[in-house]
Amino acid sequence: MRELDAVERVGVVGAGTMGNGIAQVAATAGYDVVMRDIETSFVENGLDAIDDSLDRLVDSEKLTEDEAGATRDRITGTTDLDELADCDLVVEAAVEEMEIKQDIFADLDSTVPEDVVLATNTSTLSVTSIASATDRPELVVGLHFMNPVPVMKGVELVVGEHTTDATTALAHDFAAGLGKETWESDDKPGFVSNRILMPWINEGIRTFDEGVATKEDIDRGMKLGTNVPMGPLELADHIGLDICLDATRTLHEELGDRYTPAYLLKRTVEAGDLGKKTGAGFYEYEK
Ligand code: CAA
Repeated sequence: MRELDAVERVGVVGAGTMGNGIAQVAATAGYDVVMRDIETSFVENGLDAIDDSLDRLVDSEKLTEDEAGATRDRITGTTDLDELADCDLVVEAAVEEMEIKQDIFADLDSTVPEDVVLATNTSTLSVTSIASATDRPELVVGLHFMNPVPVMKGVELVVGEHTTDATTALAHDFAAGLGKETWESDDKPGFVSNRILMPWINEGIRTFDEGVATKEDIDRGMKLGTNVPMGPLELADHIGLDICLDATRTLHEELGDRYTPAYLLKRTVEAGDLGKKTGAGFYEYEK
């Protein structure tokens, strides 16, 4: 296994919200980063999001202009997976579809040197199943970042059936080097975070749909009453309602009726209102 002190270049597959956030924090930590997505426009949007986020960090004096500039210079965008061939560690953050992730891992397995650790940012899918698309399941691990990646302190470390202790330790140390703390989860549906968070959000939506309180009061109540930064409906909008629905469906499939998606969640996604990113979810947002 390639040790962490030999890691200079990090590959990130996916330039969406999670991928560009992971690319940004890895580059801020000093790694050269190659961020790959399937279309040039996705890569460009990812690079733009990184610019915006770095500007915010400079505005709030968490980074200097020079540090932000150096971070940006360390990130290359590409649509060519072969550009990850000389990476020393790869984090995959593509869409949450098993078939797509397995295809990516099979491609990575034949592109990236055989001693390189491949991490997946999956939020609910089986790491073991993703790893089965490779000939190196012992070097595959879950590194589940939280959104917004540059701000959130924690990363969930998911240990697959064949993940070795050395791989888990490397993933932990890599996350620590990005300034993140980790907690460990077995490779069980939803891990720790979404097994608990998704039903909380789902129940918040049901509570609204069943007329118990206004959406504002549900969110205010949970914030004031339990000291969380966002209530369930605000958080659903922040994460993306499509992502919440997909995650809840996976949990429902794996764990049964206690995870049945709320009717209003399905209806809102069907209406194309996916939350902050589309300008409307349970609330309206400026685009
Ligand atoms: N990049 C850089 N900085 C950012 C940022 C970004 N993308 N987003 C927010 N910030 C900064 C802001 O600039 C601001 O900085 P200052 O305090 O220095 O001014 C700070 O973060 C706080 O932001 P805001 O003032 O805009 O708003 P806020 O205080 O409400 O915080 C929040 C925003 C950090 C998102 C906070 O509301 C929060 O922590 N919400 C909960 C988020 C959460 O639970 N995430 C996990 C979701 S689950 C998940 O991701 C996994 C999954 O599988 C679904």
